[in-house]
Amino acid sequence: MAQPPPLIINVEHRRNFSLNGKWQTIVDLYDTGYYDSHMALEENGFFKNEKPRHRSDRIEYEFIPANNLLVPGDWNTQREKLYYYEGSIWYKKDFDAVLSKDRRFFVYFGAANYRADVYCNGVRLGAHVGGYTPFNFELTAHLRRKGNFLVVRVNAGRSQEAVPMAMTDWWNYGGLTRSVLLVQVPKTFIRDYFIQLKKGSLDLVAGWVQLDGPKARQRVAVRIPEAGVEQTVVTNARGFAQIEFPATLKWWSPEQPKLYRVIVTAETDEVEDEIGFRCIETRGADILLNGRPIFLRGICLHEESPFPNQGRASRREEAEVLLTWAKELNCNFVRLAHYTHNENMTRAADRMGLLVWAEIPVYWNMAWKNRATRENAKNQLAEMISRDKNKASVVLWSVSNETPSDLKERDRFLLELVQLAKRMDPTRLTTAALHIGHATVFTNTQTQFTMRDTMGEQLDVVSFNRYIGWYDALPDHCDNVMFDTIYKNKPHIVSEFGADGLAGYHGDRNTRWTEEFQEYSYKKQLAMYARVPFLRGASPWILKDFRSPKRVLPGIQDDWNRKGVISFQGERKKAFYVLQRFYKKLKEEKLV
Ligand code: GCU
Repeated sequence: MAQPPPLIINVEHRRNFSLNGKWQTIVDLYDTGYYDSHMALEENGFFKNEKPRHRSDRIEYEFIPANNLLVPGDWNTQREKLYYYEGSIWYKKDFDAVLSKDRRFFVYFGAANYRADVYCNGVRLGAHVGGYTPFNFELTAHLRRKGNFLVVRVNAGRSQEAVPMAMTDWWNYGGLTRSVLLVQVPKTFIRDYFIQLKKGSLDLVAGWVQLDGPKARQRVAVRIPEAGVEQTVVTNARGFAQIEFPATLKWWSPEQPKLYRVIVTAETDEVEDEIGFRCIETRGADILLNGRPIFLRGICLHEESPFPNQGRASRREEAEVLLTWAKELNCNFVRLAHYTHNENMTRAADRMGLLVWAEIPVYWNMAWKNRATRENAKNQLAEMISRDKNKASVVLWSVSNETPSDLKERDRFLLELVQLAKRMDPTRLTTAALHIGHATVFTNTQTQFTMRDTMGEQLDVVSFNRYIGWYDALPDHCDNVMFDTIYKNKPHIVSEFGADGLAGYHGDRNTRWTEEFQEYSYKKQLAMYARVPFLRGASPWILKDFRSPKRVLPGIQDDWNRKGVISFQGERKKAFYVLQRFYKKLKEEKLV
């Protein structure tokens, strides 16, 4: 399937017109508007938006204002009937356009879960697969001044060959879940750029600029006015030019999240961005931020609204509340699991000073041998890196979560992802949330876990998930657990641990599902991981309760995973304060 054209980055700082708001919709469970009865593509599908011309005409569909959905937003929490819906819904938006012969128009989608087929004025533009990364299509040739209409078929179907595969422990929120923008650019415009400190340097800015359009060879200036630096380059016949220049900059860090106004000026276009400059690297078992060892005091997040009874998060104010909660925990790090979160999250992390673990949904056991699955995963990784490669807060690209070790096809699949990440962005670290092997000895006395995984050697940072006290034995068993690793010269992060606790359900610490059980689990797990000398980071699972179809225990789960230290209604559970105190002490001890 042809991929959408290359991504336009930093759309929020370009001339754009929001298409957010009410879209007229048609629920189409059997894809009547997409396939004919022989399952061939329907040439007069719903994307034509046809109306009867004569009273005898037969048109069996209609977009009407009453059947609308809000964009951005998942459909599951907008209509009771759509709560469990995972089929197709057609979206339609009417708009006019101020055309000009030297301007080009693109439609930009922050994300659409899971597959989007996009049409403009009845003409098919293409499709995108993957529910968590941005994509755009050019509209220029199809637009008229009045009466344009965009139609998007969004299908949320799951499958074993998809990315993620058919089973996940999170809700499959369907729809146009993030903003849709009409982006206006000059005929030849600055489509993409990479402007960061050179790998391993603290005073050299390096990267490149990419133009898109007929006037490929142009003089392009990159300026950081506050730092008094400017470099001018000339793009080649492909519109590409590398940049490299010395600069004395205040380095970005959680304590000082300094962002600079960066201006890229070509002869036909100019784009402004806010970019932080910092250096992230490893030295043996340490992670260094701007040359100094750092311990990542983290928490995991799903992309769900912090506001009660909502679904997918996408707005700036939601990002700011979620990250404020993380800061309240004394975090300097967030793991944005298990897929690429919306750009408001990484922009907010840049502004607020939180290091970010970014991830694609290669989750549990995938169709490792399926080429289309692998290409889909690579495409989602490329779109994530393309969008966020200038965000100082993002320091880790994670290529998977809890995938089976000792499986050759899984290793080949993940290795291609790691190599792609390194090619696209040599400045950041790669990781994956691995299983920490299996207990070598699991008795009531001592338990020894040794980190080994066939992918370990390929990653900059070795991370692992393990829930001693929730999935393995009970919290007291944490006292008898030791950890070791075969990767003596690599940093490690414990990327998940924790326990469920239903907010407001109280009992003794041995009564599962109570806040007291969760609180005691945290006390024991944190004490256990504090004894692991090769850990350089922790991200307990998870900041807030989240919806999951896997969590069906009546009266306790009811479609919610209760491992949040904050409930889905925003109540802080007892475990919240255990973690908050632990990180406060760690922060004071390690002065990082
Ligand atoms: C798993 C997985 C998470 C899941 C969590 C849990 O390890 O990575 O996606 O939600 O543990 O079981 O709650």
